[in-house]
Amino acid sequence: MSYLAADERYDSVIKYRRCGRSGIRLPEISLGLWHNFGGVDVLETGRAMLRYAFDNGINHFDLANNYGPPPGSAEENFGILLKKDFLPYRDELIISTKAGYLMWPGPYGEWGSRKYLIASLDQSLKRMGLDYVDIFYSHRPDPETPLEETMLALDSAVRSGKALYAGISNYPADLTKRASAILKQLGTPCLIHQPKYSMFERWVENGLLETAENEGIGIIAFSPLAQGLLTDRYLNGIPEGSRAAKSWGYLREDQVGTALEKVKKLNEIAKLRNQSLAQMAIAWLLKDQRITSVLIGASSVSQLKDNLDSTQNLEFSDEELMAIELILQS
Ligand SMILES: NC(=O)c1ccc[n+]([C@@H]2O[C@H](COP(=O)([O-])OP(=O)(O)OC[C@H]3O[C@@H](n4cnc5c(N)ncnc54)[C@H](OP(=O)(O)O)[C@@H]3O)[C@@H](O)[C@H]2O)c1
Repeated sequence: MSYLAADERYDSVIKYRRCGRSGIRLPEISLGLWHNFGGVDVLETGRAMLRYAFDNGINHFDLANNYGPPPGSAEENFGILLKKDFLPYRDELIISTKAGYLMWPGPYGEWGSRKYLIASLDQSLKRMGLDYVDIFYSHRPDPETPLEETMLALDSAVRSGKALYAGISNYPADLTKRASAILKQLGTPCLIHQPKYSMFERWVENGLLETAENEGIGIIAFSPLAQGLLTDRYLNGIPEGSRAAKSWGYLREDQVGTALEKVKKLNEIAKLRNQSLAQMAIAWLLKDQRITSVLIGASSVSQLKDNLDSTQNLEFSDEELMAIELILQS
């Protein structure tokens, strides 16, 4: 059935936050296609999620060259769904992709050389059937390639019209500052940084958030639910079909076991707030205005729906924050 986007898509609970000091505003919640959109997944489930997301104001979809499995298949599937459903809405969408991890054999198939980044972006555009992406990221810092070369490749991607903005992901604070200075000098300021950030993963609080704010770079927090740990998914064991149960899922069973005690306690606080744990985990990130967007994953429309409602209550009392902190530090 052909798709007609909901007329009220911008009247939903989702608001838009300015991305650093740029002209772009992003939805408070964005959808990532790392899991659940690959060749091993059901395309129609992915299609339903993209439609639901867009109908409800989530207009930013995040990809990378290696998402799948197999690597590249998430971009291929996204390309199919884009063509079927979203091409009329291209100008309303922010589509991102990245390069940094292993994609093809030999010395030019990963990391941060100009050779790899530009070739990878061309491949990504082809897989998605796009002329350009909105954001092109260096997916991870490369300790062996001069930072200038990687940043120049991002600048070239933008100047060639294959990307509209440049981003970096997984860069520590000091490298972020250097990367930002190089990009500014080149005339292509860094739009956004994509770090892992959740109640369980807080490295960004040791300097990166501050650096990004000073540099005028937005922050989009990935794996905000710690891949599903910060939800009710694993409260009663590891369900069939969950990420921890899948052989290709990045969440391991032992990680579930280690986190469970804290998860149960956090879940009690979420209940007192009349939120699901997923909603509280997202709200906990969005309470900080330096966070432009929270980049979730989902395996069903009902999860998306649950997560969207987190924006209804982003306020935390001092007591709640203290209680959460005590659990996280225990
Ligand atoms: N830049 C990077 O290096 C990098 C690395 C990783 C991810 N990312 C980006 O971040 C995106 C999100 O990462 P992520 O998928 O790890 O995020 P996440 O939001 O922490 O985890 C998503 C998983 O949590 C579970 N879930 C979501 N909502 C739920 C709910 N309401 N109730 C119960 N369970 C729920 C689902 O697990 P089930 O599948 O078990 O249902 C879902 O697949 C990726 O798609 C990608 O775009 C970037």
